[in-house]
Amino acid sequence: MSSIDKIAVLPFTRSATEVAALRRVAEQWQREFKFWSFDETLQVLQRSICKAWYIPCRDEHSINIAAIVIVDIGPFEAEVLYIFVDAGYRAKGLGRHLLSWLVEHLQTVCAVEALFLEVRVSNTYAQRLYEQVGMQKIAMRKKYYANGEDAFVYKLPIRH
Ligand SMILES: CC(C)(COP(=O)(O)OP(=O)(O)OC[C@H]1O[C@@H](n2cnc3c(N)ncnc32)[C@H](O)[C@@H]1OP(=O)(O)O)[C@@H](O)C(=O)NCCC(=O)NCCS
Repeated sequence: MSSIDKIAVLPFTRSATEVAALRRVAEQWQREFKFWSFDETLQVLQRSICKAWYIPCRDEHSINIAAIVIVDIGPFEAEVLYIFVDAGYRAKGLGRHLLSWLVEHLQTVCAVEALFLEVRVSNTYAQRLYEQVGMQKIAMRKKYYANGEDAFVYKLPIRH
């Protein structure tokens, strides 16, 4: 595992170094979840409302992504499309740090009134994380995922 000196949160700017790091992390979530390919992720990130931030980690050869959050930010609402922590860095507080940072960013820099996300009903780790940052379960979407699994919808009002 490579090291994290301090927990920095950086904007994903689509630089060549970041895109190479995104490819490595996207390969990991593809293997684990059969979710967005690297190409699909890049396409999502090219839309003007889509922003991403990440926590970097370094080894002697390259910069990698320890954690990343991908968010659509509209005029009134923001939606987390995906949050992913590299398997080697899980349960160390990085997911909570990144999501808390996002909430603070939305409170101070953006005009949005609420943050939303969907999560698989089976993903209890992620649900605990969302509840820790103050999000509340507001609805269920039946058969939301390709495999027929239901989703919970979470919401956090953003206070400015
Ligand atoms: C869900 C995920 C983002 C959590 O990030 P993380 O950095 O591992 O989580 P944190 O260390 O910040 O922990 C935050 C809370 O989540 C819960 N949690 C996280 N990992 C857990 C584990 N292995 N066992 C039990 N609870 C866990 C706990 O409530 C934890 O708080 P606590 O440590 O005070 O008990 C990460 O596990 C991940 O990337 N999973 C795969 C992708 C995914 O499921 N994304 C979310 C759906 S889009």
